[in-house]
Amino acid sequence: MNTSLLKRKIIQKKFNLGVIGLGYVGLPIANRFINKGIKVYALEQDLEKVSKLKKGINYINNSSLKNFNYFKKNKNNISNDYSILRNCDVVLVCLPTPLKNKKPDMSFVYNCGKKIKKILKSYQLIILESTVFPGATIEFSKKFLKKEHILGKNIFLGYSPERENPGDKMFSYKTTPKIVSGYSKKCLDLTETVYKHVVKKIVKAKSLHAAETSKLLENLYRSVNIGLVNELKMICERLKIDVFEVIRLASTKNFGFQKFVPGPGLGGHCIPIDPFYLSWVSQQRGYDPKFIRLAGELNSSMPKWVVKKMLRNIKIKNPSILLLGVSYKKNVDDDRESPAFEIMKLLKEKNIRFQYNDPYFPILRKGRNLKFSKKSILLNKKNLKKFDATLVVTDHDLYDYKFIYENSKKIFDARGVYKNFNFPNVSYC
Ligand SMILES: NC(=O)c1ccc[n+]([C@@H]2O[C@H](COP(=O)([O-])OP(=O)(O)OC[C@H]3O[C@@H](n4cnc5c(N)ncnc54)[C@H](O)[C@@H]3O)[C@@H](O)[C@H]2O)c1
Repeated sequence: MNTSLLKRKIIQKKFNLGVIGLGYVGLPIANRFINKGIKVYALEQDLEKVSKLKKGINYINNSSLKNFNYFKKNKNNISNDYSILRNCDVVLVCLPTPLKNKKPDMSFVYNCGKKIKKILKSYQLIILESTVFPGATIEFSKKFLKKEHILGKNIFLGYSPERENPGDKMFSYKTTPKIVSGYSKKCLDLTETVYKHVVKKIVKAKSLHAAETSKLLENLYRSVNIGLVNELKMICERLKIDVFEVIRLASTKNFGFQKFVPGPGLGGHCIPIDPFYLSWVSQQRGYDPKFIRLAGELNSSMPKWVVKKMLRNIKIKNPSILLLGVSYKKNVDDDRESPAFEIMKLLKEKNIRFQYNDPYFPILRKGRNLKFSKKSILLNKKNLKKFDATLVVTDHDLYDYKFIYENSKKIFDARGVYKNFNFPNVSYC
């Protein structure tokens, strides 16, 4: 094997692709390559997921994965054992990069590097897709390089941040430009050649560091702007101005303004977490970022603000509340870091009775997010009428908002979804 042979294999789709971590990012990516006729080998640590995929059961709500049965047909192509990657020419790493004590937890990625080392062969291309701080891809490579390996010569390293937007019906993976970067020119060229099979537009970064930082900027941009409109919401409340109307007007400007809407706080695996990756690395170099921290503080104070405002306006002693939506954003079956949990925690602390409904989460089990288990209740007339108020936490499209309005005693809306209707009796919080 040599570099040109590896490139030829990639161009001719004769390469074996390994995907590590079949979660929200890894599974859809694997599927995209599978759909192009590329042979995929998957490494997934969660045996329940492995077993489901072998039975043709998909655990991610993503329209592109309907009828996904590749691993049912190719049971030997998925395992929790690293030896599955032995014959892979290209390996994509799609592992979690969470926080631990508000600092980057790179243990999933770095431990994976150590395990890759055991099976690594010359002329393999390893591409990291996880969101990381600048410099982390190089650190990752140090875990798997063997003595005989020279990065950029007989082992190749790429970084390509994922831009998956779960639940998005407007922008597809194919039409979203993909940023690629490499340790050397050869690494970059090979990485680009891989993604050419599945995306239309590729943007080449000049360095791994720039590509890593660009992903953080994308999420920081959202965090800061969401923080801004959440603060505007609090200001407008005091001034008795409708914040949604203000945003509607401002967003008619056809240049220099992008619309963001206030909500009950941030969730998901990206926006609440990624800014800490940048602030951490910045602190390491002696600069303590202010803007980033402020946005985080503002956004994480929102559940408290929402609960406070709702309880102030409900004017009932010991009210009962129905929470609508647990996902961190609409139309997704993802509850990671969802503000709904903070709202539940606050209600529980205040001994306020509550139930929830979320078609994406029929049950919430006791664990990291909650100190109790709860079942989603049916959204029927009888149940709606039982509660003193219904609070819209997540504005899923599949809710019948007219029906909910007509059968609730009082509506509190933390998403502004009722601004699309002409109902008089809604309080926004
Ligand atoms: N979810 C998104 O929308 C999104 C978007 C852009 C970027 N990202 C980034 O992509 C990365 C992955 O995120 P995700 O949402 O797919 O996470 P996820 O938790 O959904 O998926 C990770 C998968 O890796 C598996 N796993 C964990 N440790 C493993 C190991 N040692 N070996 C094999 N498998 C292992 C888990 O079981 C899980 O299935 C993160 O860095 C995230 O920040 C996520």
